[in-house]
Amino acid sequence: MLIRRENSADAAAIRAVHTAAFAKTAQPGQVPVEVGLVDALRAGDAWLPELSLVAERDGEVVGHVVCTRGHVAETPVLALGPIGVPPELQGQGIGAALMHAVLGAADALGEPMVVLLGHLDYYPMFGFEPAEKYGITPPVPDWASHFQVRTLVTYRPSIRGEFRYAKPFMEL
Ligand SMILES: CC(C)(COP(=O)(O)OP(=O)(O)OC[C@H]1O[C@@H](n2cnc3c(N)ncnc32)[C@H](O)[C@@H]1OP(=O)(O)O)[C@@H](O)C(=O)NCCC(=O)NCCS
Repeated sequence: MLIRRENSADAAAIRAVHTAAFAKTAQPGQVPVEVGLVDALRAGDAWLPELSLVAERDGEVVGHVVCTRGHVAETPVLALGPIGVPPELQGQGIGAALMHAVLGAADALGEPMVVLLGHLDYYPMFGFEPAEKYGITPPVPDWASHFQVRTLVTYRPSIRGEFRYAKPFMEL
């Protein structure tokens, strides 16, 4: 398996990955919202091409993760998501490979922190901790229990306050 940056030919395969990965959470017969979210993010100014990564196996895209620009108060940080692997390929380490690669890339780029809303039994494996511990609050107070941050080497404790996602997230 390879982990590499998304290229201009990957958009349809990425849509297919998220359509399959999030099918269970979508309304019956509807395309999952994550599919349109990735397209809207890619078309907007929060998109960071360095941090849209695919997993490729035997020439097929088998997973995707993206980090986009968000802010804690006025400080630029990263939002992670969506991440998706089709159900029949889950549990083989593809998601973990994408997580390690995107976090390593974010750290190498000098980003201070990655923020996400997600499972409490999955993301702590990659060093995510409750955002509350770092004085970072979600844009929607009800999200607090699942709102997590992963600090990177340039993190500073002065990065505190309310997190803001890129606009397409708030239009879901
Ligand atoms: C979350 C997701 C990307 C993980 O991908 P994956 O390729 O299945 O993950 P891995 O095989 O690398 O799993 C790594 C570990 O996490 C565990 N794990 C996987 N998904 C999990 C979940 N949803 N909750 C808890 N643990 C999970 C695996 O059991 C594995 O543990 P192990 O190494 O001890 O066996 C994938 O399950 C997925 O696409 N889910 C649907 C979409 C989704 O919910 N995305 C996240 C929200 S944006």
